[in-house]
Amino acid sequence: MKVLTCSTLLTLLSASLLVSVDGCKKKLNDGNEIPDFAFGTFKLKTPTQSIRRAIEAGYRLIDTAAFYANEEEIGKGIRDVIERGIVTRAELFISGKLLNTNHSKEQVIPALKLSLKKLGLEYLDMYLIHSPMATTSEGENICLDYVKTWRGMENAQKLGLARSIGVSNFNSKQINRILTLCDVPPAVNEIEVNPTYPNLALVAYCKVNNIAVMAYSPFGYMVPRRYDLEDYSPPKFNDPYFVKLAHKYGKKTSQIAMRYLIDRNVIPIPRSDNPTHIQENIDVYDFKLTTKEVSTINTYDINTKVYELGFLRNNVFYSFYQS
Ligand SMILES: NC(=O)c1ccc[n+]([C@@H]2O[C@H](COP(=O)([O-])OP(=O)(O)OC[C@H]3O[C@@H](n4cnc5c(N)ncnc54)[C@H](OP(=O)(O)O)[C@@H]3O)[C@@H](O)[C@H]2O)c1
Repeated sequence: MKVLTCSTLLTLLSASLLVSVDGCKKKLNDGNEIPDFAFGTFKLKTPTQSIRRAIEAGYRLIDTAAFYANEEEIGKGIRDVIERGIVTRAELFISGKLLNTNHSKEQVIPALKLSLKKLGLEYLDMYLIHSPMATTSEGENICLDYVKTWRGMENAQKLGLARSIGVSNFNSKQINRILTLCDVPPAVNEIEVNPTYPNLALVAYCKVNNIAVMAYSPFGYMVPRRYDLEDYSPPKFNDPYFVKLAHKYGKKTSQIAMRYLIDRNVIPIPRSDNPTHIQENIDVYDFKLTTKEVSTINTYDINTKVYELGFLRNNVFYSFYQS
């Protein structure tokens, strides 16, 4: 019998993981499994094409939202890869989000059904309340308790329209209210986590309560953003420490940022229309950062979010004042 050495095994393992992350899954608190790497879809310039490329590159978790207004195009990309036999529906994990304008308990199921229709799907693997802040369709803040919205989410799960349910942009106090007052705990909290906003306290809270964290804007201010920061000059991809780690592991600095999130046990959601970036961002399963390296990157915190959702600041449930 041929004995494989550790290094051969590692080489084989990393080669297979480059093309697919199938099998790298986390167990959710409801017993379902979620892939540990996601593809973001907000502001994609070529949604259908980029989704196709992402799934071909090995992404299995697709983060969508009614708010992104591209569900039809994304559904088209998903159908295309399924029809070509690249993946089956069961191998994909499609996540969606409830609009802030559909927060009454009775609106949840019709809103979810509309998203399913646009995506061309029979069920979502995950449905999230996009934020605890309810508004009218004109964008006016309304005082509608997200606990009532959560009751609608529980009903959607009972009907099998969403296999798992969760929240996004909720702080710990808000999650505590759901844990205390409702029947089903959120399986996920999707929040901003990246080197320039490590969000340590809220991530720790979610872990203690067995709630998986999906990390949005995973590059933080390392990539150009719409608004320049006046008081800070955040680290970019040419930051010397990131460059040092990139040399050490033979990777790109962008890949160090992705691996940092995996090694913190959160699910990165990078978004890209660039074929090379789409490939590179998920090609991070052949190395691991040390605990010390992760801790050093945590110190890059500039305590400034990419998305402050400032237009909702006057909402009674504005969630960003505290973690
Ligand atoms: N729940 C929420 O409230 C919420 C809020 C915000 C975002 N999200 C989710 O999180 C996803 C990601 O967040 P995000 O859109 O802010 O962005 P992000 O992934 O942090 O950054 C996207 C930007 O980074 C660039 N980029 C990607 N990979 C790169 C690489 N390897 N090298 C250099 N540049 C790279 C992209 O440009 P190229 O296209 O040129 O690569 C794009 O300009 C969203 O799409 C959405 O699904 C959720």
